[in-house]
Amino acid sequence: MTISSAPGKVYLFGEHAVVYGEPAVPCAIERRATVTVERRSDDHIRVEARDLSLDGFTVEYTGDTEYRPDVDVPTALVDAAMGYVDAAVEQARDAADMPDAGFDIIVESDIPLGAGLGSSAAVVVAGIDAATRELNTPLDCREVARRAYNAEYDVQDGQASRADTFCSAMGGVVYVEGDECRRMTAPNLPFVIGFDGGAGDTGELVAGVRRLRSEYDFAAKTVGSIGEIVRQGETLLQNANPETTPGQALLTELGQFMDFDHGLLEALGVSSRTLDNMVWAAREAGAYGAKLTGAGGGGCIVALDETSETETALEYTAECHDVFRAELDRIGVRVEE
Ligand code: MEV
Repeated sequence: MTISSAPGKVYLFGEHAVVYGEPAVPCAIERRATVTVERRSDDHIRVEARDLSLDGFTVEYTGDTEYRPDVDVPTALVDAAMGYVDAAVEQARDAADMPDAGFDIIVESDIPLGAGLGSSAAVVVAGIDAATRELNTPLDCREVARRAYNAEYDVQDGQASRADTFCSAMGGVVYVEGDECRRMTAPNLPFVIGFDGGAGDTGELVAGVRRLRSEYDFAAKTVGSIGEIVRQGETLLQNANPETTPGQALLTELGQFMDFDHGLLEALGVSSRTLDNMVWAAREAGAYGAKLTGAGGGGCIVALDETSETETALEYTAECHDVFRAELDRIGVRVEE
């Protein structure tokens, strides 16, 4: 039996634009998906998913993609989660050249599903790591990231960047621009997350931006402007001392860039009333900046604030279902004892 875990993430800058080769800076956070994998003697796959921030459910594969949820949970979310587990298994079988390997799999996660915190990437990364180890074919983090990207690419019909999966596999703050993926040195950033209790449909949201971008030159330029924000934000982070607490000047400028990025994402149609209301609650409470994170449409915002003001304000915001502080997680995928 092998247990691996991988972190979720927030986007400091660059979601959506990264799909078109612009850069992005996602940051791993201390919320993890944990996948337990045990080899079976047959070729069946049994998946048990506990607390995917839904009520627990159990599904059984019978060698192909048939499964039966035990309890009543939103089918679209179950389908999505199981599609990612399926794709991770295929990548592990391929890496070990064992196309008939069967597994009992348990998925546990404290990352809300489809809410912009990289839940699917974390499940795929941890799943590939645990399954390949179970088949005595351990992969290094970069190869796990590469295969996890292939898995997401398949599930999302080619509409995925390398950002989520690379960040989850490597941990810390990363820079992704096309095929260029690297770890960055960066100080700890005081992230506060607000969650509206909902989820967005990544495929639909990405397709919406794609349509706008191909139809209107100003939408294409908006995507390019997000890329410019990311490049300037990256320079700010590179010049900061990773050993010290970030100073007010750095946080103020990063926050300004986050606000700008959120405005452009809103213009591209991927925000929502609940996300906007949480963003404004954070700003009015004195956060340095606030923006949606991930695909949008519902889910989470991320704000920068080292005081407790933003958390308190979000607790009293009707649209906010949950608020928490998220520490940067400098460790990516890892084996659990
Ligand atoms: C989703 O977490 C982030 C998007 O940029 C899609 C992707 O990068 O694959 C919207």
